Amino acid sequence: MSVYRTPSPPDRPHPPAPAGAAPAARPARDVDIISHSLEQTRRIGARLAALLQPGDLILLEGAFGAGKTSFTQGIARGLGVGSDYITSPTFTLINEYENGRLPLYHVDLYRLEAPDQVRDLGLLDYIEGDGVTVIEWPERAKGLLPDGFLQIILTDLTDTKRALRFHAEGSRYVELAEQFKDQAFAQGAVGEGGAGYPHGDPAR
Ligand SMILES: Nc1ncnc2c1ncn2[C@@H]1O[C@H](COP(=O)(O)OP(=O)(O)O)[C@@H](O)[C@H]1O
Ligand SMILES: [Mg+2]
Repeated sequence: MSVYRTPSPPDRPHPPAPAGAAPAARPARDVDIISHSLEQTRRIGARLAALLQPGDLILLEGAFGAGKTSFTQGIARGLGVGSDYITSPTFTLINEYENGRLPLYHVDLYRLEAPDQVRDLGLLDYIEGDGVTVIEWPERAKGLLPDGFLQIILTDLTDTKRALRFHAEGSRYVELAEQFKDQAFAQGAVGEGGAGYPHGDPAR
């Protein structure tokens, strides 16, 4: 069945927004998780990996030792890369792992000398490709990355405890964050808002 829609004249002004309405915003979503161990951070990464699709972009922010590479090891495990030997790429800036469910492009921009070096790396080609791109230190490429992504900010709380804040920008990543949260809660493995483990943490 076809539906006829009255074409709107191009010069018709938009109706005024109702008083007090929030301005139209890109969809966004935040989810907060606490990890109590290295292994748990990897497991959270592995759970996220199960939901990833070709072309997904994950940005990992946080100080040295916050757990960005550990989280990436978990993603690799969850994709079935079959190696725990995931170390931060240093000279090449990008490491590729092709033997999992999806290709994994692990990028560390810490040593990026200037933001436009991102072009020489062909980073956008990786991101637009068929794999999952995980970037440590994405701040170094500010303004040059796509505007849809899942950002995870890791903060050390103690020697063994890390806060992970998931911030989704764009509808694909809001959906991903929602799926991740539903699945994580269903398995009783992670708590939101730092609440810990509502049913205990069986695998800690
Ligand atoms: N809950 C935790 N999650 C992640 N790493 C942890 C945790 N507790 C302790 N660690 C330690 O913190 C360090 C994290 O290192 P790494 O993942 O390389 O950080 P980054 O890539 O952010 O510099 C490792 O030595 C790891 O053993
Ligand atoms: Mg690292």
